[in-house]
Amino acid sequence: MLKAVILIGGPQKGTRFRPLSLEMPKHLFPVAGYPIIHHLIESCIKVSELREILLIGSYQPNEALSRFIANAQQSFNISIRYLQEYTSLGTAGGIYHFRDLIKSNLSESFFVINGDICGDLPLTQMLEFHRQHVGGKGFTILGTEATEKQSCNYGCIAWDKKTNEVKHYVEKPETFVSTTISCGVFLFSKGIFQILSDTYKKNQQIYKDECSSEPSFLINDVTRYETRECIRLEKDVIAKLAGTGQLFIYPMSDKFWSSIKSAGSVIYANRHYLEMYRMYYPERLAINSDVKNTPTIIGDVFIHPTACVAPSAVLGPNVSIGHDVSVGTGVRIRESIILGNCVLQDHCCVLYSIIGWNSTIGPWTRVEGTPSDPDPNKQFSKIEQDSLFHDGKLHPSITVIGNNVSVPGEVILLNAIVLPHKELGSSSKNQIIL
Ligand code: GDD
Ligand code: GTP
Repeated sequence: MLKAVILIGGPQKGTRFRPLSLEMPKHLFPVAGYPIIHHLIESCIKVSELREILLIGSYQPNEALSRFIANAQQSFNISIRYLQEYTSLGTAGGIYHFRDLIKSNLSESFFVINGDICGDLPLTQMLEFHRQHVGGKGFTILGTEATEKQSCNYGCIAWDKKTNEVKHYVEKPETFVSTTISCGVFLFSKGIFQILSDTYKKNQQIYKDECSSEPSFLINDVTRYETRECIRLEKDVIAKLAGTGQLFIYPMSDKFWSSIKSAGSVIYANRHYLEMYRMYYPERLAINSDVKNTPTIIGDVFIHPTACVAPSAVLGPNVSIGHDVSVGTGVRIRESIILGNCVLQDHCCVLYSIIGWNSTIGPWTRVEGTPSDPDPNKQFSKIEQDSLFHDGKLHPSITVIGNNVSVPGEVILLNAIVLPHKELGSSSKNQIIL
């Protein structure tokens, strides 16, 4: 059988995603109504022979993750398991650690997918390419195009346009290497396990040599002990495979793809997944019906069936409304995600924002963020995944309201980040409210 491994990292990752990742793993954050990894699993199940998905991470198994897995197994009717690393083992350390489980019943190759990406992933086409051009012993990487400047934030691939062979690979180079970047999606034949085993042994040897030359390393050096178990997929494996005739690229520059690092990229991903629903799952989109007493819908909008929206509200484009949300009279929402159990009171306006679970927005209040979309004038431009600050100042971006926040009526929140469990008293602009 074919399998897919999705890397979901651990609690120390996802810092740019705070405060949204404070309460739950970033990969479970709902975009267009469903968790980020739900969309990746949906891409996987389009490959008809794929029967098992292994989520590898270092999170303690918690209720949200267990519930997600139970629901996903049921709705997709395939095996989905969570394998917990005892510490962060790096992007390939977990694959090596759980090799016996991955190899069990594996017929040929398996996919490895970074859990913090989104896109219309052409996995079936990638598998066909792999079978026809790469063969049972090789490895395939999914690539897309980026601008020259932005490419340095990703794994960069120099490749032969005739054979698709990867000649050179540099992970996040300091100077320009290539505008073709890694999407964080790989298709590995079983030969990868020998390569991982060799890399693991080499790392152990380096550790032993260091210990004997500097015995102070030896005792109680927990970090060192942990890092020697770590294998980096990109630097330790992919970069070394480039130029050996075993690594090939499947390019997909014509389809939507992005990494999800910042809250701003979630609004971007939301818009694109809603657009994809038009093609793959039109039943998920709200329709602008002629029936009296239904809200006005502009463009693509997802409304959870349990949400209650007043008929005079205007929603869209690119809005997702979570479960049990209440949207009052005259409310206007666009380019935003409203998470479960929120109450948007009459005539409030929410633009380019994310409103966390169980929060309340008072009447006539305006919550607005600044879009951080890719530069429309540059071909292949990606969304900037900036950190929150720039030159010591808060970078204007979408407004994010943490969960259990109460915003009073008749205030304006502009480009603000509000941490969870707050009761706001007044308006705020370009501020983090702690
Ligand atoms: N299980 C596990 N263990 N997962 C991990 C670990 C780990 O120790 N470290 C990272 N991950 C997961 C992250 O949660 C994320 O889903 C994925 O692996 C990639 O992690 P990063 O280390 O944050 O890499 P990146 O996103 O900056 O870059 C990667 O993705 C780019 C595409 O978005 C690289 O693969 C780049 O080459 C690539 O271009
Ligand atoms: P576009 O030309 O479509 O971009 O409209 P606009 O220039 O009015 O855009 P803006 O981003 O300011 O507002 C988006 C939508 O929200 C518009 O339909 C406005 O009518 C509506 N809107 C703006 N401010 C408020 C407000 O304070 N309350 C309510 N209820 N709606 C608002």
